[in-house]
Amino acid sequence: MHGIVFSELRKFVDHSLGPGAWQRLLKEAGLGNRIYMAIQEYPDQEAVALVQAAARITHKSPAVILEEFGQFIAPQLLQMYKALVQPNWKTLDLIENTEEVIHKVVRMKNPGARPAELKCQRISPGELLLVYASPRKMCALAKGIARGVANHFGERISVSETQCMLNGAPECHIRLRVM
Ligand code: HEM
Repeated sequence: MHGIVFSELRKFVDHSLGPGAWQRLLKEAGLGNRIYMAIQEYPDQEAVALVQAAARITHKSPAVILEEFGQFIAPQLLQMYKALVQPNWKTLDLIENTEEVIHKVVRMKNPGARPAELKCQRISPGELLLVYASPRKMCALAKGIARGVANHFGERISVSETQCMLNGAPECHIRLRVM
């Protein structure tokens, strides 16, 4: 997983659990005094261990932690690649164009980065089916990012997952509707 994910996770943890919480989390995850640089790649397993440790500390499920983190990280992701965001885009347009316009450039600029491959079907102007399939099975992160993107555009969306890899489906189907 890209270092930017870890550096943002640290900000998220300090923001939601208070200063010092990151060191406690590293210990709880068995990662000692690990330091993450925003320009390097780190094992996915470390991200998973940190999310699981945060879940144990907060008594929330790992999926809830990932979704909250996705919501938190969205403004930062948008800021990093704002040059690629068209001025007329709103929430569903951005998500619909993430794969072709944004994740594609992320892969080119950071050869080690493997952002999820997203497929989208625009069902109507106000509704999008987001198809997520990644060996990381982090659909909760995708749902959180979608909510964070909606916050950024001042829109409210409903998010419902009609099938999920964590329940044995080959891919996750996430329906996003602007309310
Ligand atoms: C400006 C917009 C975006 C930027 C700059 C961005 C960038 C990134 C980066 C750098 C990663 C880490 C890749 C790695 O660790 O190897 C990532 C992963 C990911 N992105 Fe995006 N992203 C954006 C929008 C979105 C949106 C809108 C969604 C879905 C709604 C999304 C879903 C994901 C997921 C689920 C992952 C985790 C990797 C996986 O599940 O395999 N991203 N993205």
